[in-house]
Amino acid sequence: MERLVYIKTFGCQMNEHDSERMLALLAGCGYRETLSWEKAQLILVNTCTVREKPEQKAYSILGRFQSLKKRRPEVILGVAGCVAQQEGERMLAKFPFLDFVLGPGKIHLLPEILKEVERGRKGVCEVGFEDTRCMDLPLPPTPPLRAYVTIMEGCDNFCSYCIVPYVRGRERSRPSDEIISEIEALVQRGAKEVILLGQNVNSYARNNPDELTFPQLLAKINEIQGLKRIRFTTSHPKDFTEELMDAFGRLQRLCEHIHLPFQAGSNAVLERMGRGYTREQYLAKIKKLKGLIPNISITADVMVGFPGEKEEDFIQTLELMQEVEFDALFSFKYSPRKGTKAAHWEDDVPPEVKQRRLETLQELQREITLRKNKELEGEIKEVLVEGRSKNSPQEVMGRTRCNRIVNFPGGYELVGRLVKVRIKEGLPNSLRGELFDKEETGDV
Ligand code: 5AD
Ligand code: SF4
Repeated sequence: MERLVYIKTFGCQMNEHDSERMLALLAGCGYRETLSWEKAQLILVNTCTVREKPEQKAYSILGRFQSLKKRRPEVILGVAGCVAQQEGERMLAKFPFLDFVLGPGKIHLLPEILKEVERGRKGVCEVGFEDTRCMDLPLPPTPPLRAYVTIMEGCDNFCSYCIVPYVRGRERSRPSDEIISEIEALVQRGAKEVILLGQNVNSYARNNPDELTFPQLLAKINEIQGLKRIRFTTSHPKDFTEELMDAFGRLQRLCEHIHLPFQAGSNAVLERMGRGYTREQYLAKIKKLKGLIPNISITADVMVGFPGEKEEDFIQTLELMQEVEFDALFSFKYSPRKGTKAAHWEDDVPPEVKQRRLETLQELQREITLRKNKELEGEIKEVLVEGRSKNSPQEVMGRTRCNRIVNFPGGYELVGRLVKVRIKEGLPNSLRGELFDKEETGDV
């Protein structure tokens, strides 16, 4: 009998990918995804604890499912993700109506947990990170055109604000042959682009001299026939090497885009964050990279309101943004995370100051993004067509190598193809274009 699962995902790409894989595992147990939680026999909340906001949203949705459980106790309700990892048994004590709690390192146990719950066991809790089996899970039968592939998990950096090392564990890298065969299988099933995932991909297999380095891994993936594009995220500036910069110039499938979070523009703040680089070192790496790959697109994460952040520190963040001219920026207000070093310090930047700094920064970035999008007007760009455009049924959408979304008139037959598009208009969050040449570009 086919059953339905509703899954709600909070947080990052890592979590979205975990949800995709949980769905693939559940497909093997006879579950199909539904977008309506009222119809589901199984509800999974995949939580995130990196910042306060997504964590609170996860808690508030649990409140809603509590009343559903009262009405329909037969519905199975589980919490996965980083809040599950952090809270473990405490989660079950707080929310006794939950059937199970599953940490990100234990995803592979999901089918067994469901069997136990169906047999009547209450409050199953599986957390911890003993092995890498959670990275080698079944593939979805029809993977998306742009498929995520985990290459490493966890983080050893312990930046003072960050919960990730506590909820995703120590750094573990996946064997390269497993990664390559997963990508080959994804390509055979229709994927055209892969996005390699890890909290800090630059330190892939750092402690294993017998394994490939990250740039060597990229070079191997670049040889996979039928694969059109490669991207990766996230990189740590302190581990961003020249060898990796060179890879952008050498590997034709590797897209010219790097996500390199800088977090703050002031050395005093960077030092307290424990980031391991200075403003000057960050800027020097960006300068070198732009010199080598002039059309590189650079995106980043930044925070405002870290403990002790003065107005002068914040101004240095704005100045750094002006100097680099990021193509896009993800910006957040600092929130203390229980268990981290910074949570012991006074959260002394008032909420209204955090809010004002965030708005100022976002306004500046909007200007920069729009200006950079307008600069592309008239250029011919290679676009991987992903599907129908949200704007109109007569249009399709795709992405340039530099990760900008382009909408242009065209039919569904273009989906999955690399085509040339002339950019006609740069908008705040996307580009508009017209098909220039629908013959596939390059050797792919
Ligand atoms: N408060 C606010 N933002 C945070 N981030 C990580 N920890 C915190 C925190 N405690 C942001 C960082 C990181 C992104 C994933 O989330 O910018 O790069
Ligand atoms: Fe959230 Fe970080 Fe966990 Fe991703 S790794 S789900 S961002 S806490």
